[in-house]
Amino acid sequence: MSQVLIVSDSKSNTKLISSELMKRYDFEVIIKESADEAISFLEILGEVDLIISFEMLKGEFSAGKICEFLNNNQELFPIAMPVMIVGKLQIEYPKKHEIITQAKLEDIVKYAGYILGKEKSFIQPVFVIEEPKEEKVQEKTTVFRLPSKEILNQLESQGGNISNQEFNAQLVSMLVDYYGVLSCDLYIKKNQSDEYEVRFPKGVKIEKTDFEKLKIKGIRHLYSKNIENTNYLNDTNLHFLNKMKSLGGDVEVSLSLGAISYDILLDQIKSSKFDSFTIELIKLSLKNFDYLVKSEKSLQSFLQAVESKRFLYSFTHAFLTSYFMYLVFDKFSWSKDHSKNKLLYLSFFHDMALSNDKLIKKHHKFLATKSSFNEEEIKVVLNHGDQMAIILEKIIKAPKELIALIREHHGSFNGIGISETLNPKVYPLSKMFMVMEYLVTYYLDIMEKKNTPGNLLTPEQYNIFVNEVNTKYSKFNYLEVLPFINDIIKPVIVKNP
Ligand SMILES: [Fe+2]
Ligand SMILES: [Fe+2]
Repeated sequence: MSQVLIVSDSKSNTKLISSELMKRYDFEVIIKESADEAISFLEILGEVDLIISFEMLKGEFSAGKICEFLNNNQELFPIAMPVMIVGKLQIEYPKKHEIITQAKLEDIVKYAGYILGKEKSFIQPVFVIEEPKEEKVQEKTTVFRLPSKEILNQLESQGGNISNQEFNAQLVSMLVDYYGVLSCDLYIKKNQSDEYEVRFPKGVKIEKTDFEKLKIKGIRHLYSKNIENTNYLNDTNLHFLNKMKSLGGDVEVSLSLGAISYDILLDQIKSSKFDSFTIELIKLSLKNFDYLVKSEKSLQSFLQAVESKRFLYSFTHAFLTSYFMYLVFDKFSWSKDHSKNKLLYLSFFHDMALSNDKLIKKHHKFLATKSSFNEEEIKVVLNHGDQMAIILEKIIKAPKELIALIREHHGSFNGIGISETLNPKVYPLSKMFMVMEYLVTYYLDIMEKKNTPGNLLTPEQYNIFVNEVNTKYSKFNYLEVLPFINDIIKPVIVKNP
């Protein structure tokens, strides 16, 4: 029988947690009300299987004090005991398990069961990120939520059904930082339907360099069997979320993690896999996007990454559109009707239902390249605005305008089809967005084709863009954005003549 020591001064909490631990898992529970009491107990009676301590009790860092005691008395406790902290731990301790302070008692019980091997999986509860304070008040706080089971089933039947298939994609980039002994078989396959080429068997110690080599070869995904991978996926997800949470103002790292998380989200949306990990990842990615878009330093780093083709097109396109829109947005009289958050969300989500980097890239020139799409791709492209709006309506409680903006990003109100003519009635913001997407597509196209170093357009190339925009967007007020592009964006992406 496993022994659990709970350290808390809240009688109601400990009563509930301990009775559930005993009832569900047959654990033996010892309760102490402070770090000092817990330490005296451990000094006399030695080891337990798990310590659950709240971060702070009666104004003192109780969890920290207990871990410090364990660190300093390794001769008494040669094998580190797992400590589950409700909150954060400021010091290093080899076997710490943190859970957010807002966690429900049910989550604390389940997490304890998971740590001691009684639960197969555990997903960290989601916490709510506060929206940036400087946003205008008319923009209601955006709330993200996990869709109900029925809605998840609906989404799955409307969109991807990959989760029903035998294999699940794992991102190589994500695994690079989570190497170690494999807890399930991993397969290298070109895509899910292919035969695998190489299998890394379960139990093998895999080195970071092995994953790095795969990345260099251009392999983005590894696959694991659906039935085998739950724990593995939970572990890697948790690891990645922790990395995202600890982002602290380093532009390079933020860009890299932003690109990886965008890629992960594309996969999640493709397979209609919405769990608390997805929702948490969306929040953290948006927060990171927000930080990057507001940072003056990120553009240069980003343009260098574009030149060296470090990131997938999907992230590059979304980020650049967002960055440029941020630069000019305040110039418009109507901008006061929208918060800048809406810009961010629009750029971030608008193409996500395409779920595939190649489609995201190609569909921006859909009318010219239509003949190169197969039937299924055409269907996906024509519906992606509507499809993404449907998904967002299920997971986000946001102003209706945001959903409408996502739908009309190719000029049609209902999000279906790619409008061949200019629609006078879409939001002014949508018009600006379409012209900005045109600029970003044009810029990225030139960066991809050119074979000389540098990430700036020549003045001639820029003039071609201006002429094209003047012809294509000549009606209504689509062209309102062009003078601002000339004044504000041109100096950062065009070489001095
Ligand atoms: Fe786009
Ligand atoms: Fe699109």
